[in-house]
Amino acid sequence: MEKRKELFSGKAKSVYTTDDDNRYILLFRDDTSAFDGKKIEQLDRKGMVNNKFNAFIMEKLEKAGIETHFEQLLSDNETLVKKLEMMPIECVVRNISAGSICRRLGVEEGLEMTPPTFEFFLKNDELGDPMINEYHINTFGWAEAAHVERMKELTFQVNSVLKELFFQSDMLLVDHKLEFGLYEGRVILGDEFTPDGCRLWDKETRKKLDKDRFRQGLGGVVESYEEVGRRLGIDFGA
Ligand code: TMP
Ligand code: ASP
Repeated sequence: MEKRKELFSGKAKSVYTTDDDNRYILLFRDDTSAFDGKKIEQLDRKGMVNNKFNAFIMEKLEKAGIETHFEQLLSDNETLVKKLEMMPIECVVRNISAGSICRRLGVEEGLEMTPPTFEFFLKNDELGDPMINEYHINTFGWAEAAHVERMKELTFQVNSVLKELFFQSDMLLVDHKLEFGLYEGRVILGDEFTPDGCRLWDKETRKKLDKDRFRQGLGGVVESYEEVGRRLGIDFGA
């Protein structure tokens, strides 16, 4: 697979075209960003760790029957994916209260959410990724109603599979964010699943093992991501 030109550079990944019109290459960089890009740092090994972490999770999801854009790992920092037509929407599911829901609704951190809640956010850094609902998506044409339903259904399926996977390795999947796109008319999972886009706590101590370590300046960010990976059985190499 030949890497051609950089099509897009996001906050932590870059997307390249390839010699196949239906495939892109994702490059996971060491950049780490939070607060809609207001805090950015380079963290050694993070691109490699997230690339391998994402591959592991996407393969687990595929095995559970959830279609993703993942095709194959190409190198430490690169992954081959299907070319999707992305929807500018972030799907967030929450099993335990943390982050913005605590600020917005005044609830304390750490409450079990039964059933889990679901929220849509508009993917727009300049606006600070505002929360939106299905009426906004419909009115402004960000996605079709049937695709919105499918995104919700798939997000809950991913949540069930991954909540169990992390729990088996003594971690709590607090919340996570997914992005979807269209491939041959089907809604399939795109973007990534890494500790950058979810919250993971140790089951017993509730120690934060995800990007909140970066957001809150707790240190040991990549070390925590590797710890999560090790618990899951991911081999990051030397
Ligand atoms: P929040 O508590 O800030 O709304 O985030 C909920 C979860 O979604 C959390 O695990 C972080 C993730 N997330 C992203 O990765 N990127 C985003 O732009 C947003 C809004 C959330
Ligand atoms: N992913 C977003 C950013 O990089 C939001 C966050 O994770 O805080 O700014």
